[in-house]
Amino acid sequence: MKYGHSVFRAQKGMIIIMNNDIERILIDGSALSSAVKALGEKITSDYRGKRPLLIGVLKGSVVFMTDLMRAIDLDCEIDFMTARSYGNEAVSSGRVEITKYPDTALAGRDLILIEDIYDTGRTLSYVCEMLWEKAPASIKICTLLDKKVPKVSDRAADYKCFDIENEFVVGYGLDYAQRYRALPYIGILKKEIYQ
Ligand code: IMP
Ligand code: MG
Repeated sequence: MKYGHSVFRAQKGMIIIMNNDIERILIDGSALSSAVKALGEKITSDYRGKRPLLIGVLKGSVVFMTDLMRAIDLDCEIDFMTARSYGNEAVSSGRVEITKYPDTALAGRDLILIEDIYDTGRTLSYVCEMLWEKAPASIKICTLLDKKVPKVSDRAADYKCFDIENEFVVGYGLDYAQRYRALPYIGILKKEIYQ
């Protein structure tokens, strides 16, 4: 069993192993993998004949991105950038900082920005603005989760797997203070952990 986990419920012969800091599992591993596979097929058909550049916004997107890229049947490329709008708090700091740009030349390229979660949209609207200055052919936003909160811009995500309520979630790449990224599901963090 993984560190910090316990078997918390056994029903109809099914055993659920969950991290002790998680209130409940919101999206389990099998729902994640079917949604990512379906999204990969959609991107494959939308970009047929093209060579999109997937840009993962570090670090939260890594787990989603590594699954998604294997579900896309195209000659795509990958790169990464780092943009942060959160410190160690569970609420947005309201500040966006780009600490790493992609290494790839972006002019004329079809970019697909890969994010873990589209919350206020502050991070992605700033990132898009910065990336348009590099003269790409197109920029699409692809997020695993879209949180139902008011957005700072009208720009909706072009691709997404799940809409979620306004709750703080971790796992499958998403963190709280750099922890819980390796959980194989999306879970709601117990409030006592961050309050
Ligand atoms: P935005 O700029 O408000 O859209 O915030 C986006 C970033 O905030 C995401 O890339 C995450 O790193 C972080 N974030 C927002 N909501 C959550 C959450 O529920 N869990 C973990 N990180 C979150
Ligand atoms: Mg984060």
